[in-house]
Amino acid sequence: MKRSLAVIVSVFMSVLLLISLSGCGATKKAPSSNATPEKKKIGIVQIVEHPSLNTIRESFVQQLEKEGFKDGQNVIIDYQNAQGDQTNLKTICQKFANNKYDLIVAIATPSAQAAVGETKEIPIVFSACTDPLGSGLVSNMERPGQNVTGTSDAVSAEKIMELAKRITPNIKTIGALYNSSETNSISVINNLKEYARKNGMTVVEATVTNSSEVQQATSSLVGKVDAIFSPIDNTVASAMPVVAQVANKAKIPVYVGADSMVKDGGLATYGINYKVLGQETAKMAAEILNGKKAGDIPVKTISDVDIYINQDTAKAIGITIPEDVLREAAQVFGE
Ligand code: TRP
Repeated sequence: MKRSLAVIVSVFMSVLLLISLSGCGATKKAPSSNATPEKKKIGIVQIVEHPSLNTIRESFVQQLEKEGFKDGQNVIIDYQNAQGDQTNLKTICQKFANNKYDLIVAIATPSAQAAVGETKEIPIVFSACTDPLGSGLVSNMERPGQNVTGTSDAVSAEKIMELAKRITPNIKTIGALYNSSETNSISVINNLKEYARKNGMTVVEATVTNSSEVQQATSSLVGKVDAIFSPIDNTVASAMPVVAQVANKAKIPVYVGADSMVKDGGLATYGINYKVLGQETAKMAAEILNGKKAGDIPVKTISDVDIYINQDTAKAIGITIPEDVLREAAQVFGE
């Protein structure tokens, strides 16, 4: 009798020990499902498919995961592409606003302008907007106020033209190829005109309103210009292979605003690293998801620029890239 009592007591003690070790005691209940915080909803809106914007989006999502926000796990990421159409942009941003998303990530200026037009409450992080002030996204870069902040890829037309002169020194007339409704392009083109005026060059404009006009606009410059300049323009970037085809045939060098436009056939640029820009955008998004106010975070301009060259294009138009330029280049495409 005594023996069996001892057995019972020891079994009882071991059960108690097991319960406390496994952390499943009555006082430590697993959280019930309705106590689990709801997943925050992040809407990503992108104006169009082109390599640079895709790079930004992919590196954004990767970095956001490193910051602790993983799609499907503790956040839901809803990615929408407007296929270059303004009406689609508005519909997408309205949907994000009506469904009370927790954060909107707008890739490129037209998307950011659409998002800002739809909500003054939901935080918006814009990505790769060349001229956030001139585009009316913020009125102060240091303290944006309101619900908007983001990253900028401001470039200098002057710097790109200095590079152009090192490669093809005899530029007298330059063709400006861009979409006149992209405010991100306007400020860079103004910078180009200023540079041309100071350096005795003439600018010939060829503007487009959508990517189907790019071929015609490029052709209109043939015979009139010594080189073509295209800023960080989404419309031109999405039709860059067409630009290269026309310009290469006419043996005109094309200087552009972004590395991906060089990869897609442009001759050269001084451009920023868009993977880094995507990562910086994600860090801002994480700060906001963790409770910071968007308007308290300064706009971040990525200003480290590198030289990008396309050797296939150089060959196609029959020019030799100077050795010192090649040595300085961060990346040489082709060959
Ligand atoms: N800077 C552009 C804007 O403000 C977006 C952009 C990022 C872009 N990378 C690019 C455009 C490369 C053309 C090519 O909208």
